[in-house]
Parts: sequence; structure tokens; C-alpha cells
Amino acid sequence: MGLRSPHLSYVLEAKPPVPWFEVMGDNYLHQGEIPHRTLEKVRSHYPVTFHCLGMNLGSTDPLNDDYFKRLSELIDRYQPQWVSDHLCWVASKGLQSHDLLPLPYTDEAADHAASRILQAQEKLGRRMLIENLSGYLRFNQSQMTEWEFVKAVAQKADCDLLLDINNIYVNSENLRFDPYAYIDAMPVERVKEMHLAGHLRAEGILVDNHGSTVCDEVWDLYRHAVARFPQAATLVEWDLNIPPFETVWAEAQKAENILKDSSYVA
Ligand SMILES: [Fe+2]
Repeated sequence: MGLRSPHLSYVLEAKPPVPWFEVMGDNYLHQGEIPHRTLEKVRSHYPVTFHCLGMNLGSTDPLNDDYFKRLSELIDRYQPQWVSDHLCWVASKGLQSHDLLPLPYTDEAADHAASRILQAQEKLGRRMLIENLSGYLRFNQSQMTEWEFVKAVAQKADCDLLLDINNIYVNSENLRFDPYAYIDAMPVERVKEMHLAGHLRAEGILVDNHGSTVCDEVWDLYRHAVARFPQAATLVEWDLNIPPFETVWAEAQKAENILKDSSYVA
């Protein structure tokens, strides 16, 4: 499960048997000691992973040395199992978009993003997981499919992948492609984590808002993904109108039951 502030006191009191928590690394880069004391208590009971939003891996701005220095210190302190960010850009010429923005699917963009991921991995001294975006627009300049682009970047950067199954489904509906072909094209050995989340259907498009339970179509796609990536860990994201802990935990347990039922799992 993602570690979210409305659940913190329950997690620390009840210590539910969650296998691990994903921590939004960016939220702790500029914090004082009090939030860290809480996170240290969580860490003393659970493994954690770091999920980031601010590496700006697809941009042409230089990588932010201060950001990576702070993130390295955070990694040293909490020893996350892995660190992830998105295949996107979030700022240009110093101007923050406050959104995860896509790249055109070209060889040039793949080379550019991969070189930046290599630099980021060098700065952090570890291999990272890169996540696929939800998308609503397509660049006229794109020369390949989204899944060919993701695969090309992962190969060039020699990084691992965090596959967001809901994002794949949302994009397949918005941009009209076969989500199963996307899953089938991913390099099995690189997929270390999968995300599940709810989305909103609005005015003819699907919006990846992380504000509801996972829909049946995404569960079906997840079953297909589990069969292909049985080694990957799964995380349920819920960021809008966050419900009680038990509601999110029930979604995570549903995913765990699918993983256990998979005939591919010993
Ligand atoms: Fe995600």
C-alpha cells in the first residue's frame, strides 16, 4: 500500500500485516524532524520503497543536484527496497508544471530520457524503476508505440520498470490501442512492481485520478499481467478522497489473492 497521512496513526497503532509501504520520497526532502520521527517508526516495522515525482527525467533542464543530494540522504536514512519515478517531464526552464507530462515517442527522446535516467542512477548509486504515465494526448512526431518507447528507454538506461496497469488501461481507452499487447511487449525481467488504481470516466475520456476502487477491466488486465510478471510486487494507489485504511487494504488483499491464485506462482 501507499503510505498516506490519514492512515498513519492507524498503521502505527494497529500495525496491520501490510507487506511493505510505498513512501512518496519527495514529501520528505524538505521536512523537519517530526514527520521523520513518524516515518522512522513506520520503517522500524515495515520495509519501504520510495516513489518520486520530481526527478524531471524527460526534461532538458539540468538534473537538480540539490534534489538528488537530499534524496540520496533520504535513501541512506531509510534504506528503501527500491526507488522509482516516472518517464516524464515536470518542469522546463525552471517552471514547474505540477503535472507529469509525456514525451514524444521518438528515438531522440528515448536516447535523451535514457541518458538522464543513467545520470540519475549514477547520482543515487542504484538502479531505479521507471513508471509509465497516464496520457490523454498523442504527439504527431511519435514514431513508435508507447510500449516500444518504454521498452527502448528501459533497455538503453538498463533500468527496471514499474508498470502501472491502470495507466495502461486508461491510455488504451483514451488513445485506442490494445492494452494486452502493451503488457505482452514488456521485458519480463525488468518489471519489478505494478501499480493499481481507480480512474474517473468523464466527458468521453478516462482520467487517472486515483480516487476509487479498481475497475473490473483493470482487474482482468492485472490477471494477465500477473501471469506474465509473477515476480513483480503490486501496490494499490489511492490519493483522492482517501477512504479508511480498511477500504484500501481490501483492494490490496484482492490483488494478493489474484497473485496467489495465479497458476504461475509456486
Ligand atoms: Fe502509478
